[in-house]
Amino acid sequence: MVNAAKRVLVFDSGVGGLSVLDAIAASGRAFEIDYAADNAWLPYGLKSDEQLRDRVPNLLARLVEQWAPQAVVVACNTASTIALEQVRAALSIPVVGVVPPIKPAAAATRTGVIGLLATPATVQRAYTDDLIAQFAGGKRVIRFGSAELVEAAERKLRGESPDQSEITGVVTRLFGTPGGDAIDVVALACTHFPLLAAELAAAAPRECIWMDSGAAIARRLAHVLVADQGAPRVRRAAFTSGEGALASLRAFETRGFSAFSHIAEAPSFELKPLVR
Ligand code: DGL
Repeated sequence: MVNAAKRVLVFDSGVGGLSVLDAIAASGRAFEIDYAADNAWLPYGLKSDEQLRDRVPNLLARLVEQWAPQAVVVACNTASTIALEQVRAALSIPVVGVVPPIKPAAAATRTGVIGLLATPATVQRAYTDDLIAQFAGGKRVIRFGSAELVEAAERKLRGESPDQSEITGVVTRLFGTPGGDAIDVVALACTHFPLLAAELAAAAPRECIWMDSGAAIARRLAHVLVADQGAPRVRRAAFTSGEGALASLRAFETRGFSAFSHIAEAPSFELKPLVR
């Protein structure tokens, strides 16, 4: 028997979740995908734990009431590593979080030295410490937090050229950390960063594996929702900053999104038409 397409809400602070959406869309499963960005609050990587624990579950609860998805993907490491428990408690549908890809990075490294590139918040989280202790025992993990790369990815998807010297600066500092010259795998633990894959690779002093979580999340989602094979369909996108949304609308349109909303501020988080 063929089931109906499964409705999924992908959530991030900004355009970063599009790297996860791209992986879900490439999975060949029958998903109907909506997207929400809390771009009025971008970057999450510079917000406090308390702010995120309060806002993200409330915002997602209101969006789920209004759009009735069957699962939510928190396509944001910064939110997942601090608020996943609270989001799960606030919703009665499955929640798939995105956490740093330490486990596959540890399996892939030959030198035993992994670079971990994330937001300033994610690199210092207890959740990240636990992942490293659990999956990368005996490996060396060199952490580097960058909010600049988040902004660079946002700029790129607004159609502006990213500042390659800024990206090179970040990558140079990661590889320049003591022991960093042996890095052969970089775990991209922010969903914005795979959107800069070409720029990051060009900035690296040598070839290495750039590991992200997108494909694993797509597999997990298909499993959780028991999704059939089929053509994924991308539908609606909503944003807490209308102005920010208009600037990056093309990145959404080229991915097939055709309906856009503005999310009113807390506490209502009501979906309204996006005025162009
Ligand atoms: N895309 C988000 C992540 O995966 C964070 C970006 C931000 O700082 O808002 O961590």
